[in-house]
Amino acid sequence: MKHWTTTRILKSKGVKRIACLTAYDAAMARLVDEAGIHVILVGDSVANTLLGFDTTLPVTMEHMLHHTAAVVRGVSNALVVADMPFMSYQVSDDEGVRNAGRLLQEAGADAVKLEGGVIRAPLIRRLAENGIPVMAHIGLTPQSVLALGGYKVQGREADAAAQLEADAKAVAEAGAFSVVLECVPAALASRITEIVPIPTIGIGAGAGCDGQILVMHDMLGMTPAGSTAKFVRRFAEVGEAITNATREYVRDVEAGTYPAAEHSYK
Ligand code: KIV
Repeated sequence: MKHWTTTRILKSKGVKRIACLTAYDAAMARLVDEAGIHVILVGDSVANTLLGFDTTLPVTMEHMLHHTAAVVRGVSNALVVADMPFMSYQVSDDEGVRNAGRLLQEAGADAVKLEGGVIRAPLIRRLAENGIPVMAHIGLTPQSVLALGGYKVQGREADAAAQLEADAKAVAEAGAFSVVLECVPAALASRITEIVPIPTIGIGAGAGCDGQILVMHDMLGMTPAGSTAKFVRRFAEVGEAITNATREYVRDVEAGTYPAAEHSYK
């Protein structure tokens, strides 16, 4: 059995902060798993980080199955949560159940994540009742970027804040084992954390959440420095290291100094 299960995540509330990161392939998943990450999200942010899209909307079930299965192969201890892509659960709850089941059955995910609050509570209840653990996602929900008019902080006005509180309560009552709060003012995220019985996982939601999640490529410094959001801390500059190593390799190949004698077979 893995160290990190959905029940352990639930029991961590108020006891231990939960550290989550995205990953999209076996090699990176293995590294962050070995470093002790608690939850790996195979995010539909694969659209932006790996696939070169501007939004998460083009991501399909086939993409998510492919990347989730790769991550699962690299992980021993972290809980693996697979994002449900745009249009895999919006058309009907029946389709939502079928597609969530595929992420567990075909790709080996431990749980799924889907976007939406009150409106998704019936689907979350059905999934939970059928043994499919759900991480909910409210606040800035990137699959609705066209309707939201861009990637903006959510819940600043009183009515929007009240709606977010209602969303958090609804997903918790429906049986979600945790809820991501994305781009929410810190005070509101702390209040939601106090009123719901499940762990809140913040991204751009301040330090008052029960856990934090970041997109791996942002946190490792693999995205252009000027383009990272205010809430991202770049814990490393891996992008710069890759560029520098590649420049050195090109130079050495051109100069004929690589491969050297020690890299050649006798
Ligand atoms: O797809 C993703 O990476 C996410 C996180 C930003 C929470 O949904």
